[in-house]
Formats: sequence, structure tokens, C-alpha cells
Amino acid sequence: MKKQLLFVAVTILAVACFADNGAIIAAAPSKEIKLPPPDMKGGKPLMECLALRKTSREFSDKELSQQQISNLLWAAFGINRLDGKRTAPTAMNVQDPLIYVAMKDGLYLYEPKGYVLQLVLAEDIRAKCGEQEFHKNVPVDLVYVSDTKKFSGDKAGNMNLAWSHIGFISQNVYLYCASEGLSTVVCGWVNHPQLEKAMGLPESFKVILTQPVGYPK
Ligand SMILES: Cc1cc2nc3c(=O)[nH]c(=O)nc-3n(C[C@H](O)[C@H](O)[C@H](O)COP(=O)(O)O)c2cc1C
Repeated sequence: MKKQLLFVAVTILAVACFADNGAIIAAAPSKEIKLPPPDMKGGKPLMECLALRKTSREFSDKELSQQQISNLLWAAFGINRLDGKRTAPTAMNVQDPLIYVAMKDGLYLYEPKGYVLQLVLAEDIRAKCGEQEFHKNVPVDLVYVSDTKKFSGDKAGNMNLAWSHIGFISQNVYLYCASEGLSTVVCGWVNHPQLEKAMGLPESFKVILTQPVGYPK
């Protein structure tokens, strides 16, 4: 009986986590958010997205839907081929970039296989994702991390590669936002050691850039 009650309570909580449009509204973090598969056919034509691409620093606090988050992350660095290759290139296909997603209810790691957001930290660390005010309240702050263990050889050269990989990913996000009418700004003005500490990252994981995404104000 107790088990049944617990099951009902967990189900109610899980359902309550999402509004009708799939926007994440819960205060209680889910250990794992299974996103819907990305829509790989939609959006504006590429040339129109390029014409619209821009940096915006004003965000409303309106939440993104689960579908938008899934599309955004797939555009950023999802798997687009059967051999596991991705929407952004990496030198020697090293695939060092990881995308963490900071939201009101916690910090998640995007797992591209299965479109899953894995809870890493049940804490709101958005204010530490950058030195500018807008980070604090933006619905989604992407934190681009390089898993430097994936590289071998020259350390300084590897960091150049790591930064360039995030450049491709960030532009994918800019183009998705242009297509979807969302605001975004890629941010290098970040207190890297403070953010890495807040995220509890191991020494070999390095924050490169962050990128808040939300509806325009
Ligand atoms: C690597 C990089 C780091 C950036 N860091 C910041 C930042 O910390 N804060 C910010 O407001 N804009 C940042 N920007 C955005 C630039 O200011 C912006 O791209 C530039 O003004 C050109 O505007 P546009 O993107 O609309 O073409 C950054 C851009 C790049 C490429």
C-alpha cells in the first residue's frame, strides 16, 4: 500500500513538472529529463537564419518547452549520423565538448544518445554562469565544457582545439535561435574557476564559454 502511494505521489510530481506546452516549471528537480526527439525537419531556411543571426542580451523569464530544449541541444552538438558523428565538427573526431544546462531547478548534463538531461546538481547556479546580470534569470544557460582527457599530446594546442570546437557549437545555437526567434549571447566573460567549482567539475574538465538562451524580452 505504502509503495502504491509513493508511486502515485512520484507520478503526480512528474506530471506537475511540465506545463501543457511541455515547459519545465517545477521547483523540484527531476533526476533525469527524457526530452522528446528533436525535430530535424523544421525551422527557417538556412540563408534566412544567417540573415537573422545576432547577439541579444535581453531575455524574458518565459520557459522554453521540452521540444525547444531538445531541438536546441541537438542543433548544438547532437548526433546526426549512424556512426555517432555530430552536428559540429571536432579535430580527429575527438568529441571532447560536453554541454551542461543550468536551469532554475538545477544543473543537467546533456546526453545526446536518447536525448536525456541528467541531473548533476540540484542547485541554481545560473548567476555563476557569467559576470553579467542577465545570467541570473535566463531560463536556460548552456555551459560548454571540454573533457580534456579526450586529447593527447601538446596541452596548449589542445586548448586551441577545444575553444574552436565550442565556436562551432555556439554558432549552431545562434542559428537555431535565429530560426526560433529566441535571444542568445555567447559569453567569455565568465569567472572560470568559480564556475568550475560550483559545478563540481573534475580537474580535467574545463569550462570554455557559456551561452544563455531564452525568449526576447
Ligand atoms: C568568444 C566570444 C565571447 C563573447 N563574450 C561575450 C560576453 O561575455 N558578454 C557579452 O555580452 N557578449 C559576448 N560576446 C558577444 C559579442 O560581443 C558579439 O558577438 C559581438 O558584439 C558581435 O555581435 P553579433 O553577435 O550580434 O554579431 C562574445 C562573443 C564571442 C565570439
